Amino acid sequence: MRSLIDILELSVGEIDALMGTADDIIANPQKYSEKCRGKKLATLFFEPSTRTRLSFEAAMYELGGNVLGFSEAQSSSASKGESVADTAKTVSCYADIIAMRHPKEGAPLVASMNASIPVVNAGDGGHNHPTQTLADLFTIKREKGRLNNLTIGFCGDLMFGRTVHSLIAALSRYEGIRIVLISPVELKLPGYVKSGILDKNNIEYVETTDLESVMPELDVLYMTRVQRERFFSEEEYLRLKDSYILNESKLTNAKSDLVIMHPLPRVNEISVGIDKDPRACYFKQVLYAKYMRMALILMLLNIQ
Ligand code: NCD
Repeated sequence: MRSLIDILELSVGEIDALMGTADDIIANPQKYSEKCRGKKLATLFFEPSTRTRLSFEAAMYELGGNVLGFSEAQSSSASKGESVADTAKTVSCYADIIAMRHPKEGAPLVASMNASIPVVNAGDGGHNHPTQTLADLFTIKREKGRLNNLTIGFCGDLMFGRTVHSLIAALSRYEGIRIVLISPVELKLPGYVKSGILDKNNIEYVETTDLESVMPELDVLYMTRVQRERFFSEEEYLRLKDSYILNESKLTNAKSDLVIMHPLPRVNEISVGIDKDPRACYFKQVLYAKYMRMALILMLLNIQ
């Protein structure tokens, strides 16, 4: 039995296979509509979510399975003091697979050590978000046709943005990747990601505070929201929240085939005027995410 807590638990070959399945689901949805008949997904969300939870649920429904769960800690026994370990043991009696989001780093790992069914990390604090990374990789692959030889800019809250940490880890295994880190100095990529992933794998990277100066180099621009819920002070959040707002004028020098991504939710980081630009891929990313979650559910449940 296998869980997914960190994206690096999947080999490059396994990620390729998942993308192959997702391509096939897009081409032949009917073939998959009964694959999970009789199976149940439990979505245990101790932190707010629109996309990730509904995407997992839609994925399971489209595979013919069923869904149970909760969408806030207040409505679960966590509010009475139940441990994550006990919740995981309990839910193992009801479901076949768990998707868990939690504000504490490591909580889904603890769940996976106590559950008797696969656990998927659907975001743990400021740490990791492996299924968003599967969606992000698939988006880049579908839109650019490759996952190597790319210059990828990450812009915004690189300190607390868990999707950034997971995607950088995943990209570090492909050839010819150059990373451009664009953030206010207060929200730079954590040292453990720089030394543990970028330096360790000899990935070329630069850090800057200026988005426009690096725009012409980018093949992919990954915008992120400033993660208000992880700040210690509201004042600091208010000072930093609008550090980068992508608008038409900032794209003047961008490549014509730039791929603009954002894990969403967007607050102010991308002006809505950009949504019509053919380079805006963030809503396609939402759709691709569902197909990758379908592929992952099939893999973890050992369904061919
Ligand atoms: C992200 C998350 O929850 O980390 N959203 C998502 O799952 N698509 C990004 C965010 O909340 O900013």
